[in-house]
Amino acid sequence: MPADNEQLIQEIKRLKEEREALILSHYYQLPEVQDIADFIGDSLELSRRAASTPAKVLVFCGVHFMAETAAVLSPGKIVLIPDVKAGCPLAAMVTAPDLQARKNQVPDAAVVCYVNTTAAVKAESDVVCTSANAAKVVKSLPTGKKVLFVPDKNLGYYAAGQNPDREFIFWEGYCHVHDQISAGDIISAKKANPAAKVVAHPECRPEVLDLADETASTSGILRYARESPAREFIIVTEEGLLHQLRKENPGKRFHLASPALVCPEMKKITLEKVLKSLVTLEPRVEVPSPVRERAVRAVERMLAIS
Ligand code: 13P
Ligand code: SF4
Repeated sequence: MPADNEQLIQEIKRLKEEREALILSHYYQLPEVQDIADFIGDSLELSRRAASTPAKVLVFCGVHFMAETAAVLSPGKIVLIPDVKAGCPLAAMVTAPDLQARKNQVPDAAVVCYVNTTAAVKAESDVVCTSANAAKVVKSLPTGKKVLFVPDKNLGYYAAGQNPDREFIFWEGYCHVHDQISAGDIISAKKANPAAKVVAHPECRPEVLDLADETASTSGILRYARESPAREFIIVTEEGLLHQLRKENPGKRFHLASPALVCPEMKKITLEKVLKSLVTLEPRVEVPSPVRERAVRAVERMLAIS
């Protein structure tokens, strides 16, 4: 590691103590950012941690909706995102006015919204879900209740597959990182690594999930790799997860299904920006009270379920 990185890390650690800050990181962050975090997790675990920590300052190494969810759950805390431009294109595929208009067309449906959405969209929703609990959140709704699932259609199809008796209305959103993977990519990866188990994130297309041995959220993929007797795995999610997979399983081999599995938004957070945010206590993520009060209901409803 270059000496200047080492210096940066020492300075981050010193300032973190001084500020009584907690650094949270998603698994898709750069390896060096994951390594300075106090806590690494998937979207669900990060929400839970943000809600329960006594820390006064949260430095959120992830994309904007994740920091915003932390702000929704922690109104008294300072929530920092080291690069305010780190956004999720999937979250931008649904706006609150568009959702309001759709709700008016299907007033009898419950809105289940993926955590990859703005707080304003969460405020228009009945309940939030993550990739770790989508099917379970849908099951928690009254029997026979129609579901308007926003915005990720692939996660929606996956949740619908596990709730075959329920009527779904899908939104035309998708994650460009996961949705670009084709069945042909998986077939090629399997040919190159015939002994490997295929583990895919539910933001992938149905035909990709059909070829997978397991479908799971990022932390679910980690659990599967840890517990499986297999020695080799084809990973169908963003490449950042490989850092933890390899750290936790030094005796096992991990192949990325495609070199295209990179989320440029997640990579906008660097050690330099983490340090700067601790120095300046900026940029802050704040959610106006009227939106927060409505959004928190949908997030807490999810946290109570799973
Ligand atoms: P997880 O909930 O599995 O962490 O996924 C978040 C995400 O942004 C996937 O692209
Ligand atoms: Fe959004 Fe996809 Fe990036 Fe996740 S991987 S943050 S869903 S663009």
